This record gives sequence, C-alpha cells and structure tokens, in this order.
Amino acid sequence: MSTRLDNSTRPVVDTRAFRDVLGHFCSGVTVVTAMVDDDAVGFTCQSFSALSLNPPQVLLCPSKRSTSWPTIRTADTFCINVLAAGQCDLSDRFAKSGGPKFDGVQWRPAKRGAPILNGVAAWFEVALDAEHDGGDHLIAVAGMLAFGADSATQPLVFHRSRYGGIVDPSMG
Ligand SMILES: Cc1cc2nc3c(=O)[nH]c(=O)nc-3n(C[C@H](O)[C@H](O)[C@H](O)COP(=O)(O)O)c2cc1C
Repeated sequence: MSTRLDNSTRPVVDTRAFRDVLGHFCSGVTVVTAMVDDDAVGFTCQSFSALSLNPPQVLLCPSKRSTSWPTIRTADTFCINVLAAGQCDLSDRFAKSGGPKFDGVQWRPAKRGAPILNGVAAWFEVALDAEHDGGDHLIAVAGMLAFGADSATQPLVFHRSRYGGIVDPSMG
C-alpha cells in the first residue's frame, strides 16, 4: 500500500517561500540555443542535469511560459551552452522574452548547426528524445550528439538569485 500523501492531505505551499529555499541549491547556468528557419533562438536555463550515460542523455526543464522553447523543440538539434564565469550579461540577455537576443553575440555553429556561444565553459549538441509534464514546466530529455569543453574556464554559478563563481575550498 502506498504511503504517499494524496493531494487532499498535502499542505498548501507558499510559492514565494518555496522558491526562496530552492534558491539555496546552487547550480550552473546554461543558454539553450537552436537555429530554426535561419533564425537563432535561445533562452537562459538553470534546470539542466546529467541524466544517463547509456544511452547518453541530459535533461532540462523549460517553463510552459517560455516563448522560445516551442520553436527550439522543433529543431533537429539544439545546443546547451554552459556559461563561464563573467558571462552573467549573456545569462541576463537570454533571460528576456522576445527581442533580438543574438544581436552582437558571437557564436559558431556546431556540426549540425546549433549555435555554440563564444567563451562558454562547455556545450552539448543534442536532439530531443522525449518531453514529460512537469507541472508549470516541461521535462525535456535530450540525446547527446556532440560536446566540448574549455577546461581552462571557470563556470558561472547561480545561488539565491545572484551570480557567483567557484570558491577554492582550500581558501577556507
Ligand atoms: C539564472 C536563470 C535561470 C533560469 N532558468 C530557467 C529554467 O530552468 N527554465 C526556464 O524555462 N526558464 C528559466 N529562466 C527564465 C527564462 O530564461 C526566461 O523566462 C526567459 O524570458 C525565457 O525566454 P523565452 O520566453 O524567449 O523562452 C532562467 C532565468 C535565469 C536568469
């Protein structure tokens, strides 16, 4: 017999407080990009994770309110760009809906065309394998096609709504 609480017995969760506490879990920041009909599209996405080694898959969680994901998901491939320390301007730029997000942004195409942003710590060119419902978000599972990293680059970190970087633990 399941011991899970059904919806009627669950407490009402204060969304703002929940969000604040979630913010204590720090993560990197990615920009998810694609080329669709000769237009580059993209959005900032923190909810990225390794998923499976065999088959090689990652996941990301686009909001159902994202205006670029419905376009990106139609592309043959898309690219998950892991931002480097100092790229908070790129994160902010791609966190806005609409507008010419790619104006002045330097990038090169991955083998199958998805934009790799200049200076990123790592990138993964992927194809959409599955989409699952995730409340007000979607859970997108993507299969790996190609990837690369610049090991000399430090990552951008996001924690409690602020950008930061990796601190050397030996520094206390
Ligand atoms: C640091 C950071 C992390 C974010 N993470 C996500 C995320 O995981 N999923 C998501 O859908 N939006 C995330 N966003 C918000 C989107 O980038 C933002 O809603 C953007 O306007 C979406 O653009 P679009 O409407 O063109 O898709 C994040 C924003 C920031 C600044």
